[in-house]
Amino acid sequence: MINFLLGMFLYVTLLIFRFMESQSENLKVTGPDAPLVAVAGEDLVLPCFIKPNTSAVDMTVEWFRPYVKDSLVHLYKDHEDRNENQAQAYRGRTSFFKEELQKGNISLRLSAVQVSDEGLFKCLVEDYSWYDDITLHIIVEARGSHPVITMESYDNTGGINLVCESRGWNPQPEVLWLDREGAPLPAEDTQIKRHIEGFTVKRRTTVYDYSDSNRFYCRLLQKHHLMEAEIIIDSKAFDTWKWAVGITVAGGFMAAGLIVAAVFCDDKEKKRQKIENELQQEKQNTAILRQSVNNTYKEKFIKKKKKFAVDVTLDPNTAHPIINLSNDGKQVTCKCQWKSLPDTPQRFSVYPFVLGKQSVSSGRFYYEVQVSGKTWWILGVAGESINRKEVITLSPQDGLWSVGLVNQYRAHADPHIPLTLRDKVEKVGVFLDYDVGLVSFYDVESITLIYSFTNQSFTEKLYPIFSPWYNIQGTNSAPMIITPVLKT
Ligand SMILES: *[C@@H]1O[C@H](CO)[C@@H](O)[C@H](O)[C@H]1NC(C)=O
Ligand SMILES: *[C@@H]1O[C@H](CO)[C@@H](O)[C@H](O)[C@H]1NC(C)=O
Repeated sequence: MINFLLGMFLYVTLLIFRFMESQSENLKVTGPDAPLVAVAGEDLVLPCFIKPNTSAVDMTVEWFRPYVKDSLVHLYKDHEDRNENQAQAYRGRTSFFKEELQKGNISLRLSAVQVSDEGLFKCLVEDYSWYDDITLHIIVEARGSHPVITMESYDNTGGINLVCESRGWNPQPEVLWLDREGAPLPAEDTQIKRHIEGFTVKRRTTVYDYSDSNRFYCRLLQKHHLMEAEIIIDSKAFDTWKWAVGITVAGGFMAAGLIVAAVFCDDKEKKRQKIENELQQEKQNTAILRQSVNNTYKEKFIKKKKKFAVDVTLDPNTAHPIINLSNDGKQVTCKCQWKSLPDTPQRFSVYPFVLGKQSVSSGRFYYEVQVSGKTWWILGVAGESINRKEVITLSPQDGLWSVGLVNQYRAHADPHIPLTLRDKVEKVGVFLDYDVGLVSFYDVESITLIYSFTNQSFTEKLYPIFSPWYNIQGTNSAPMIITPVLKT
């Protein structure tokens, strides 16, 4: 009997045990198969649950980072959270959904996701005779800081080196330099560094003086996110380079003539407001900078006038037969009536041009020409070998570096560049630096740069060149006058 009872007891125990075992065998821990994408700074739910749904209240649940030294993310054991050995990085950032535990939902809430959370997480469940786990793959996207453009240095080819930098990205964004039309500019390879808070990217480009307001953009692209910073460089900043030869350009001086403004394409109103304020501040700073730059600029301009002024007179032997020179060789106008003059090799016979007598083959040179009252004019410098007998392009390619007013203000680059000037130009200052290949034109009244040809290579003597242009029905009869450079 006792044997029988004992046998029964053993049998029942075994049955119960079997039952439990088979139930456990059917349990599985499940979760998402695909990587989860989280956004840095936001909260994330790491899904994990027991199937078929069974209460996890009496089980041990451990979340940890596999293959990591300090790996415990969250531990639940003996009906409570046991986080004494939790990794420092997860202190205060993890919790379960308590009321969900009894449904077998052991998902973990992780607050303020960081780039360092990217990688694998394991969700492991243990109960007496059974355990199972799953691995989750987390990808953290971080949008970095707004890009900052720095004017790094002047380039020895006459350009300005700009660096665009931004931190805290994941994955790394594409960095593009664009011109004002949005066309990509050539740039160095992007430098990428990995930090715990994400990638830092840095990209350099060299920009040149394209117009009187040079605008460049640094654009960061990460999937559907776009951030942009803009920089406006006044031509004067480029010109400063030429004057600053031998001067170390640094600090305040480097910010010369710069408007730096960052513009972001972002979503949140708060952020936008903040940016708005920053822009406002930036504008104020810029105004102050500009003022001090203008003063420096003016001083330099006046110094240059004094130092390099040359007394230019017109050379009648080169004058086209329809133009008329004053006796002192300081004025030229177009009566536009053909005079019979010997057709010498020096004489222009297609365009109404005349050269100055003085030439340059090294060093610097400055003179001023009054154009008030004229509706059309061209002036600049010309190479000695300029073609005086045939049609030419009126551009550096044919040995002519000039600006003019012919229907509109233009720089006769290749192709010609229309110029938008604030004021009507009354007097033009022409500055030539033969050795560095620079020809600059200034509006003398307002002390502003009209246009600069930079980075030219001169191989022969250069002469000042003038054209009063045609005078149709007396509309352009005012003379061009070479005026003495004021020694003030
Ligand atoms: C399991 O889930 C189903 C449907 O969501 C629910 O009806 C059932 O009560 C749950 N069982 C347990 C043990 O929580
Ligand atoms: C588990 O709980 C969380 C939080 O309430 C919920 O978002 C998630 O959908 C739940 N998962 C399942 C499978 O019920």
